[in-house]
Order: sequence, then structure tokens, then C-alpha cells
Amino acid sequence: MHDPFLWGAATSAHQVEGTNTNNDWWQWEQTQGNVQSGKACDHYHRFREDFALAKQLGHTAHRLSLEWSRIEPKPGVFDPKALEHYREVLQELRRLNLRSFVTLHHFTNPVWFTKLGGWENPKAPHLFARYVDAVMRYIGEEIDVVTTINEPMVYASNSFWHGIWPPHRQSFWAMVRVAKQLAKAHTQAFHVIRKHNPQIPVGIAKHVIGFRPARPTNVGDRWLARIHDYYFNHWFLSRIAGTYDYIGLNYYFAFEKKLRLFPPRIMTPAWEGAHSDMQWPLRPDAFTDILLSFKQYKVPLYVTENGVADARDVYRADFIRDHVRAIEAAQKQGANVRGYFYWSLLDNFEWDKGFAPRFGLLAVDYTTFERKPRPSAWVYKAIIDQQRAA
Ligand code: BGC
Repeated sequence: MHDPFLWGAATSAHQVEGTNTNNDWWQWEQTQGNVQSGKACDHYHRFREDFALAKQLGHTAHRLSLEWSRIEPKPGVFDPKALEHYREVLQELRRLNLRSFVTLHHFTNPVWFTKLGGWENPKAPHLFARYVDAVMRYIGEEIDVVTTINEPMVYASNSFWHGIWPPHRQSFWAMVRVAKQLAKAHTQAFHVIRKHNPQIPVGIAKHVIGFRPARPTNVGDRWLARIHDYYFNHWFLSRIAGTYDYIGLNYYFAFEKKLRLFPPRIMTPAWEGAHSDMQWPLRPDAFTDILLSFKQYKVPLYVTENGVADARDVYRADFIRDHVRAIEAAQKQGANVRGYFYWSLLDNFEWDKGFAPRFGLLAVDYTTFERKPRPSAWVYKAIIDQQRAA
């Protein structure tokens, strides 16, 4: 028998907890005027309130991440207080009957790790695996599902090629090297987790983008869309074959690709339809095809993120409804999708964009830390209730 389809929302430690003073992001933020995570949503202290709200909103699962820099503040030294904190967090989810999806790496690194060369250090996968071993040893029994690394290709390209995230490198080859290191880190972590608990499902959260030919019958456009699709969406998985029980997909948008021959250039024509507050095109139409393209891996799929920055809450309800319909369409064509996590449960710290983008089902007042469900959060609840009753 299949487990029931899971419904929930996702967060990540640095974006919601607050006061993660010991990681590379915090360090960089100190040199920035308007990009400081500070207390963020103070989720570190308010997680009970947040989970209670998730429960009220009909969720049956929750995706969160552990902050490596809290758990291992110094190389090889594991903080019992931090581990105890996460034990309480995970026990609270169990008490509420919310299934936990626990991500071990979501973009941030301990300062000591960065000082040792970060992900460019050949020892990085081993250092990561040592932390994963400690997590499994101390709190492994509290975790339902493990996600090793969030969006390896986004992390590698933003931090090592585009230079917009710490450590602000701008080298294509550094990106490639880091992506390979992340694949090794995933594989080592997988074996460490298996050793501790052969039953626990292990996977990865892969950012996926829909790439379509701007002119469906044009050979050049089709080729371009394919190349982009392979390198961004599938290449990483080819490097970790055999070391995952499920694939998590983080889906936000799609692009059309057009090959101009004279002078040669890759074009991305602007999307005519609606855009989010971050100017991301809203593209539920491309989601079914993406899900179907992951059928080939023959493992369950979870939508580990899908969301919209929408401060006025004008698009969010339809956004969720349309993506859920796209999932149903994929399921009818044989895609084994087993859960959906909206990004995000709370408004939060959107990395280099600071606090302006509002992704939350819960609106957060950053001065009082009050949380308030947006109207779309209740629409999502109605969708969940209806689907569970069906
Ligand atoms: C990341 C999140 C981020 C979200 C919205 C995802 O790529 O995993 O950390 O907040 O996108 O940009």
C-alpha cells in the first residue's frame, strides 16, 4: 500500500530561524546595508507556534533544514544544545503528526568550513559526511525523510559562477568543480545515512526549470531547450545515480529558448503572462511536462518547493491550484508524485534580496513577529481537505 500523498510547506534554517551568527551568509551580511537576516522570523524560538499554524492549515508534512553551523560550531565539535533544540523541533512535528522532511544543507556553511576552503576544498565531501554522521547518531531516529542537499546547481552557480552569493566567486570551472564535489558529498552522506538507518528515505531537492523551444518546430530552438534541460535539470542526477530513494523537485518557472543565427545569440523571449513580485514568470503550464520528464528515474517524486513572491496575495491561491492540477495531470500519465510542499510556510529572508519578497502562506510582521495566515493559505487548506477526502 502507498503512503498517503503529503501536503505541507517548506522553510530553511537561515531564512527563518534568526541569529545564525556562525555561518558564511551571516558573515557576508554584516558588510551589507539592507541585506541582514538578523532575527529573521525568530522561528528558532517560535517553531511551536508556526507548526501549530501549519497544522491548523491542514498540512500533513513539513520540510525544514538543520543549520550545520549551529550543530558543528567548530570542526569536529558537535553542540549538544543545538542537537537538543532540533530534537525538540522534530518531536514537536511528530506530536502534531506532521511528517518531517529534513534538509541537511540549504545554502549556508559554517564559518570554519569556509575558512578551510569551503566547497572547493577536496576534503569538503568528507567534512560534510562527518556532520551528517553526527546528525544521524544524535537525532536520526526523530527524522522521517532526509534531503541531503538543496538545489546543488543553484548553489554552485550563484556562489561560484555568477558571484552573487558567498563566497562570490566568478569562475565557470569553479562552479563545475563545486557541483561535482556536491555530488560526492551527497553520495557519501547517502551511505552514512544508510549505515545508521537502512529504512529512512534519502533524496535530494533539485531545482528544475522548464525549458521550451520558443518556436516548437524550429530545430535550433528545440536543441537549445534540450541542452539547457539536460545540464540544469538532469546532469547532477546522472552523477549521483543509485544513491537516492526519491527525487525532490523545486519548481518555480519556465523559459522559452530561441536560437538567433545572425549574429548568433541565445535569446529568452519575455513571457507575456503574469509575473511574481520578483519578476519570475508564472508558469504552471510547463509543470506537467517537467514532472513527466522525471518518470525515467523510476523513484517517487516530491515537489519539495513551489511558490510565489506575492505581497498582495493576488496570485497565490490560483498559483497553488494550477500547480496541483498540473501534478494531477502528470499523475494520470504515470508520474509517481507523492507530495507537495509550498514555498514557504512563512515570509522569510530571501537571501541577497533581503526581506522584501513575500512568499509566505503566513504573513510575518518583522517588528512584532506576529504571523497571520493570508487568504490563500485557507484556499490551500480547502484544496488539501478536498484532496484528502477524495
Ligand atoms: C530556494 C529557497 C528560496 C526560494 C525562492 C529556492 O530556490 O531553495 O531558499 O527562498 O527558491 O527564491
